[in-house]
Amino acid sequence: MKGVILAGGKGTRLYPLTKATNKILLPVYNKPMVYYPIETLVKAGVRDIIIVCAKEHAGNFINLLGSGKGLGAKIEYTVQEEPKGIAHALALAEDFVDGDGVMLNLGDNILFDDLSGYVRGFDDGAMVFLKRVRDGRNFGVPVFEGKRIVRIEEKPSNPKSSYAVTGLYIYDGSVFDKIRRMRPSKRGELEITDLNNMYIKEGRLNYGFLKGPWSDAGTFEGLFETARMVRERYTKSIRRSGH
Ligand code: DAU
Repeated sequence: MKGVILAGGKGTRLYPLTKATNKILLPVYNKPMVYYPIETLVKAGVRDIIIVCAKEHAGNFINLLGSGKGLGAKIEYTVQEEPKGIAHALALAEDFVDGDGVMLNLGDNILFDDLSGYVRGFDDGAMVFLKRVRDGRNFGVPVFEGKRIVRIEEKPSNPKSSYAVTGLYIYDGSVFDKIRRMRPSKRGELEITDLNNMYIKEGRLNYGFLKGPWSDAGTFEGLFETARMVRERYTKSIRRSGH
Protein backbone atom coordinates (compact mmCIF):
# COMPACT_ATOMS: atom_id res chain seq x y z
CA MET A 1 0.00 0.00 0.00
CA LYS A 2 1.13 3.55 -0.81
CA GLY A 3 0.66 6.67 1.33
CA VAL A 4 -0.49 10.15 0.32
CA ILE A 5 -0.21 13.20 2.56
CA LEU A 6 -2.01 16.37 1.54
CA ALA A 7 -0.27 19.67 2.11
CA GLY A 8 -2.03 21.84 -0.44
CA GLY A 9 -4.96 24.12 0.22
CA LYS A 10 -4.94 27.84 1.00
CA GLY A 11 -4.78 27.68 4.78
CA THR A 12 -7.04 30.75 5.01
CA ARG A 13 -8.40 29.68 8.38
CA LEU A 14 -4.89 30.03 9.86
CA TYR A 15 -3.97 33.35 8.28
CA PRO A 16 -1.53 35.14 8.94
CA LEU A 17 0.38 32.10 10.25
CA THR A 18 0.01 30.65 6.77
CA LYS A 19 1.35 33.85 5.25
CA ALA A 20 4.71 32.82 6.74
CA THR A 21 4.63 29.18 5.66
CA ASN A 22 2.41 26.23 4.73
CA LYS A 23 -0.03 25.06 7.38
CA ILE A 24 1.50 21.58 7.45
CA LEU A 25 4.93 23.05 8.29
CA LEU A 26 3.69 24.99 11.31
CA PRO A 27 4.99 23.79 14.67
CA VAL A 28 2.88 21.40 16.71
CA TYR A 29 4.57 21.44 20.12
CA ASN A 30 8.02 20.03 19.29
CA LYS A 31 7.79 19.08 15.61
CA PRO A 32 6.57 20.48 12.30
CA MET A 33 2.99 19.28 11.69
CA VAL A 34 3.93 17.10 8.70
CA TYR A 35 5.99 14.75 10.92
CA TYR A 36 2.82 13.39 12.54
CA PRO A 37 1.04 12.10 9.41
CA ILE A 38 4.35 10.63 8.23
CA GLU A 39 4.69 8.82 11.56
CA THR A 40 1.09 7.59 11.34
CA LEU A 41 1.72 6.08 7.91
CA VAL A 42 5.08 4.56 8.82
CA LYS A 43 3.59 3.02 11.97
CA ALA A 44 0.83 1.51 9.78
CA GLY A 45 3.56 -0.08 7.64
CA VAL A 46 3.12 2.38 4.75
CA ARG A 47 6.58 3.66 3.87
CA ASP A 48 6.24 4.76 0.24
CA ILE A 49 4.74 8.19 0.60
CA ILE A 50 3.98 11.09 -1.71
CA ILE A 51 3.34 14.58 -0.38
CA VAL A 52 1.01 16.73 -2.46
CA CYS A 53 2.10 20.34 -1.83
CA ALA A 54 1.05 23.79 -2.90
CA LYS A 55 3.67 25.10 -5.34
CA GLU A 56 4.71 28.06 -3.15
CA HIS A 57 6.01 25.67 -0.48
CA ALA A 58 7.23 22.58 -2.30
CA GLY A 59 10.88 23.60 -1.75
CA ASN A 60 10.38 23.95 2.01
CA PHE A 61 9.03 20.40 2.24
CA ILE A 62 12.01 19.02 0.34
CA ASN A 63 14.44 21.01 2.52
CA LEU A 64 12.83 19.67 5.66
CA LEU A 65 12.20 16.03 4.74
CA GLY A 66 14.51 15.20 1.83
CA SER A 67 14.14 11.57 0.77
CA GLY A 68 12.39 10.73 4.05
CA LYS A 69 15.23 8.44 5.14
CA GLY A 70 15.51 10.03 8.58
CA LEU A 71 11.87 9.22 9.26
CA GLY A 72 11.92 5.63 8.00
CA ALA A 73 10.04 6.53 4.83
CA LYS A 74 10.67 6.96 1.12
CA ILE A 75 9.15 10.29 0.21
CA GLU A 76 8.29 11.79 -3.16
CA TYR A 77 6.62 15.10 -3.89
CA THR A 78 4.11 16.48 -6.34
CA VAL A 79 2.50 19.89 -6.74
CA GLN A 80 -1.18 20.82 -6.74
CA GLU A 81 -1.24 24.04 -8.76
CA GLU A 82 -4.60 25.16 -7.42
CA PRO A 83 -6.57 24.00 -4.38
CA LYS A 84 -9.39 22.27 -6.24
CA GLY A 85 -10.33 19.90 -3.45
CA ILE A 86 -9.09 16.93 -1.46
CA ALA A 87 -10.16 14.36 -4.07
CA HIS A 88 -8.49 16.49 -6.77
CA ALA A 89 -5.24 16.48 -4.77
CA LEU A 90 -5.46 12.70 -4.30
CA ALA A 91 -5.87 12.22 -8.07
CA LEU A 92 -2.42 13.75 -8.57
CA ALA A 93 -0.94 10.67 -6.89
CA GLU A 94 -2.36 8.21 -9.44
CA ASP A 95 0.92 7.36 -11.21
CA PHE A 96 2.72 7.06 -7.89
CA VAL A 97 0.07 4.69 -6.47
CA ASP A 98 0.23 2.65 -9.69
CA GLY A 99 -2.77 0.38 -9.10
CA ASP A 100 -1.96 -0.35 -5.45
CA GLY A 101 -4.17 0.46 -2.44
CA VAL A 102 -3.66 3.91 -0.96
CA MET A 103 -3.83 5.38 2.52
CA LEU A 104 -4.64 9.09 2.45
CA ASN A 105 -3.84 11.29 5.43
CA LEU A 106 -4.85 14.95 5.43
CA GLY A 107 -1.76 16.75 6.65
CA ASP A 108 -3.56 18.60 9.42
CA ASN A 109 -5.09 15.46 10.98
CA ILE A 110 -3.05 14.24 13.92
CA LEU A 111 -3.63 10.85 15.55
CA PHE A 112 -1.62 8.11 17.19
CA ASP A 113 -3.49 4.85 16.57
CA ASP A 114 -1.56 1.92 15.17
CA LEU A 115 -3.44 1.19 11.95
CA SER A 116 -1.19 -1.59 10.67
CA GLY A 117 -3.93 -4.21 11.26
CA TYR A 118 -6.33 -2.29 9.00
CA VAL A 119 -3.65 -1.98 6.32
CA ARG A 120 -2.82 -5.70 6.43
CA GLY A 121 -6.51 -6.66 6.41
CA PHE A 122 -7.51 -4.27 3.62
CA ASP A 123 -8.79 -6.00 0.54
CA ASP A 124 -10.92 -3.71 -1.59
CA GLY A 125 -13.47 -0.90 -1.37
CA ALA A 126 -12.76 1.99 0.97
CA MET A 127 -12.30 2.48 4.68
CA VAL A 128 -12.98 5.56 6.84
CA PHE A 129 -12.12 6.10 10.48
CA LEU A 130 -14.62 7.65 12.87
CA LYS A 131 -14.19 9.55 16.10
CA ARG A 132 -16.89 10.69 18.48
CA VAL A 133 -17.16 14.50 18.61
CA ARG A 134 -19.23 17.00 20.53
CA ASP A 135 -20.01 19.08 17.46
CA GLY A 136 -19.79 17.60 13.98
CA ARG A 137 -20.68 20.75 12.08
CA ASN A 138 -17.11 21.27 10.83
CA PHE A 139 -16.61 17.72 9.61
CA GLY A 140 -17.95 14.97 7.42
CA VAL A 141 -20.61 13.23 9.52
CA PRO A 142 -21.88 9.67 8.90
CA VAL A 143 -25.59 8.95 8.82
CA PHE A 144 -26.34 5.48 10.17
CA GLU A 145 -29.14 3.02 9.62
CA GLY A 146 -28.43 0.47 12.31
CA LYS A 147 -24.71 -0.23 11.98
CA ARG A 148 -24.57 0.67 8.31
CA ILE A 149 -23.43 4.09 7.08
CA VAL A 150 -26.01 5.10 4.48
CA ARG A 151 -24.37 8.41 3.56
CA ILE A 152 -21.89 11.00 4.78
CA GLU A 153 -22.87 14.65 5.03
CA GLU A 154 -20.18 17.32 4.70
CA LYS A 155 -20.31 20.01 7.40
CA PRO A 156 -24.01 19.53 8.16
CA SER A 157 -25.78 22.30 10.09
CA ASN A 158 -27.72 19.52 11.80
CA PRO A 159 -25.40 16.50 12.34
CA LYS A 160 -27.27 13.17 12.27
CA SER A 161 -24.75 11.32 14.44
CA SER A 162 -22.14 12.23 17.01
CA TYR A 163 -19.22 11.01 14.90
CA ALA A 164 -16.78 12.77 12.59
CA VAL A 165 -15.18 11.13 9.58
CA THR A 166 -11.51 11.83 10.31
CA GLY A 167 -8.99 12.82 7.66
CA LEU A 168 -7.60 9.35 7.19
CA TYR A 169 -8.87 7.05 4.47
CA ILE A 170 -7.94 3.83 2.70
CA TYR A 171 -8.95 3.27 -0.93
CA ASP A 172 -8.57 0.49 -3.45
CA GLY A 173 -7.24 0.94 -6.97
CA SER A 174 -10.67 1.95 -8.35
CA VAL A 175 -10.46 5.31 -6.58
CA PHE A 176 -8.90 7.18 -9.48
CA ASP A 177 -11.60 6.11 -11.97
CA LYS A 178 -14.17 7.32 -9.47
CA ILE A 179 -12.46 10.72 -9.12
CA ARG A 180 -12.51 11.07 -12.92
CA ARG A 181 -16.32 10.70 -12.79
CA MET A 182 -16.71 13.41 -10.11
CA ARG A 183 -17.97 16.96 -10.62
CA PRO A 184 -16.96 19.99 -8.52
CA SER A 185 -19.23 20.90 -5.59
CA LYS A 186 -20.94 24.27 -5.12
CA ARG A 187 -17.71 25.65 -3.68
CA GLY A 188 -15.83 24.43 -6.77
CA GLU A 189 -13.95 21.49 -5.16
CA LEU A 190 -13.82 17.74 -5.73
CA GLU A 191 -15.03 16.73 -2.28
CA ILE A 192 -13.71 13.73 -0.38
CA THR A 193 -17.19 13.20 1.07
CA ASP A 194 -18.68 12.86 -2.46
CA LEU A 195 -16.02 10.26 -3.21
CA ASN A 196 -16.83 8.31 -0.05
CA ASN A 197 -20.53 8.47 -0.91
CA MET A 198 -19.74 6.81 -4.26
CA TYR A 199 -18.25 3.86 -2.34
CA ILE A 200 -21.33 3.78 -0.08
CA LYS A 201 -23.61 3.57 -3.16
CA GLU A 202 -21.62 0.53 -4.29
CA GLY A 203 -21.92 -0.97 -0.80
CA ARG A 204 -18.11 -0.93 -0.50
CA LEU A 205 -17.39 1.54 2.31
CA ASN A 206 -16.23 0.09 5.61
CA TYR A 207 -15.45 1.95 8.77
CA GLY A 208 -13.44 1.64 11.95
CA PHE A 209 -13.17 3.74 15.10
CA LEU A 210 -10.03 5.55 16.21
CA LYS A 211 -9.18 4.49 19.77
CA GLY A 212 -6.66 7.18 20.66
CA PRO A 213 -6.81 10.96 20.51
CA TRP A 214 -7.43 12.69 17.18
CA SER A 215 -7.26 16.33 16.27
CA ASP A 216 -7.77 18.53 13.21
CA ALA A 217 -5.15 21.27 13.50
CA GLY A 218 -6.63 23.37 10.70
CA THR A 219 -8.04 26.19 12.85
CA PHE A 220 -6.48 28.34 15.60
CA GLU A 221 -8.38 26.43 18.25
CA GLY A 222 -7.56 23.09 16.61
CA LEU A 223 -3.87 23.95 16.31
CA PHE A 224 -3.72 24.95 19.95
CA GLU A 225 -5.58 21.83 21.13
CA THR A 226 -3.40 19.60 18.96
CA ALA A 227 -0.25 21.04 20.52
CA ARG A 228 -1.72 20.39 23.95
CA MET A 229 -2.61 16.80 22.98
CA VAL A 230 0.91 16.16 21.67
CA ARG A 231 2.50 17.73 24.74
CA GLU A 232 0.48 15.53 27.07
CA ARG A 233 1.51 12.43 25.18
CA TYR A 234 5.14 13.53 25.02
CA THR A 235 5.45 14.33 28.73
CA LYS A 236 3.79 10.99 29.62
CA SER A 237 6.31 9.08 27.49
CA ILE A 238 9.22 11.02 29.07
CA ARG A 239 7.91 10.17 32.54
CA ARG A 240 7.53 6.48 31.58
CA SER A 241 11.07 6.31 30.28
CA GLY A 242 12.34 7.96 33.47
CA HIS A 243 14.15 10.90 31.82
O1 DAU B 1 -10.48 16.90 9.46
C1 DAU B 1 -11.37 16.01 8.90
C2 DAU B 1 -12.23 16.69 7.85
O2 DAU B 1 -11.37 17.08 6.75
C3 DAU B 1 -13.34 15.76 7.34
O3 DAU B 1 -14.24 15.45 8.39
C4 DAU B 1 -14.10 16.41 6.19
O4 DAU B 1 -15.04 15.52 5.68
C5 DAU B 1 -13.12 16.80 5.08
O5 DAU B 1 -13.78 17.49 4.04
C6 DAU B 1 -12.01 17.69 5.65
O6 DAU B 1 -12.60 18.94 6.01
P1 DAU B 1 -11.72 20.28 6.16
O7 DAU B 1 -12.61 21.46 6.12
O8 DAU B 1 -10.86 20.15 7.38
O9 DAU B 1 -10.81 20.24 4.85
P2 DAU B 1 -9.75 21.30 4.36
O10 DAU B 1 -10.33 22.08 3.23
O11 DAU B 1 -9.20 22.05 5.54
O12 DAU B 1 -8.61 20.39 3.79
C7 DAU B 1 -7.93 19.45 4.60
C8 DAU B 1 -6.49 19.33 4.18
O13 DAU B 1 -6.38 18.93 2.82
C9 DAU B 1 -5.75 20.64 4.29
O14 DAU B 1 -4.82 20.52 5.32
C10 DAU B 1 -5.03 20.86 3.01
C11 DAU B 1 -5.42 19.71 2.13
N1 DAU B 1 -5.97 20.18 0.85
C12 DAU B 1 -7.21 20.74 0.82
C13 DAU B 1 -7.74 21.19 -0.37
C14 DAU B 1 -9.13 21.79 -0.44
C15 DAU B 1 -5.21 20.05 -0.29
O15 DAU B 1 -4.07 19.54 -0.24
N2 DAU B 1 -5.72 20.51 -1.47
C16 DAU B 1 -6.96 21.07 -1.58
O16 DAU B 1 -7.37 21.46 -2.70
